[in-house]
Amino acid sequence: MRELEKPDLGKFLNSLDIVAMRKKHLEQVMDIERRAYPNPWTRSVFESELSQGATRSYIVALHGRAVTGYCGTLYVIDEAHITNIAVDPSWQRMYIGTRLMSETVRRAWERQIQAITLEVRVSNFKAQKLYQMFGFQPAGIRKGYYQENNEDALIMWAYDIDSSEYHERVKSIEANAGIVVESARRRRRHLWS
Ligand SMILES: CC(C)(COP(=O)(O)OP(=O)(O)OC[C@H]1O[C@@H](n2cnc3c(N)ncnc32)[C@H](O)[C@@H]1OP(=O)(O)O)[C@@H](O)C(=O)NCCC(=O)NCCS
Repeated sequence: MRELEKPDLGKFLNSLDIVAMRKKHLEQVMDIERRAYPNPWTRSVFESELSQGATRSYIVALHGRAVTGYCGTLYVIDEAHITNIAVDPSWQRMYIGTRLMSETVRRAWERQIQAITLEVRVSNFKAQKLYQMFGFQPAGIRKGYYQENNEDALIMWAYDIDSSEYHERVKSIEANAGIVVESARRRRRHLWS
């Protein structure tokens, strides 16, 4: 059961600031990372990702100054790879993951990306449900990908993300959550601020 229902949910989601991840966010990001994953990334992995410039896009969802979640993407030519997405456990199930995914897709649209991929633990059904909502389909298994427990990774892909069908899918997810999307110009100013 959602803690917030429409229209409060939409109001809450639209009050979040989605901005580029910066070093100043890393303390809070690391706090979430440690609580969200059994095998968290180190701070230096994030620092290295943030130093890679145009081939990466890392965003955070801010509630005031509090980082509630983040999502990272690696771009390779016309494909994107979601490298990390996590929401603070105390903010989960409030569509922040959905908000981060929709922003990630919109940024991919701006770069004329055709397809997005990611890996997810075979046991991580809640994340898989989120990805399925965004049109990701299972495409293979990486055996023993997660070394600490030898768990397999499910590889998922969303293809043809520039198609009108996919645009409609994402817009309908946003509409269901009450997410109002800013104009492209304002978004760009915001995302790089
Ligand atoms: C996966 C994660 C990012 C989802 O973030 P979130 O903000 O809680 O997700 P949302 O509120 O946007 O949920 C969207 C949909 O995902 C699915 N989902 C999310 N959490 C779920 C849960 N606990 N149980 C079942 N389904 C869930 C549902 O389909 C949900 O839509 P619905 O509630 O309308 O059915 C978050 O659970 C998380 O940070 N997990 C730990 C880190 C992780 O596993 N990251 C993914 C690595 S591949």
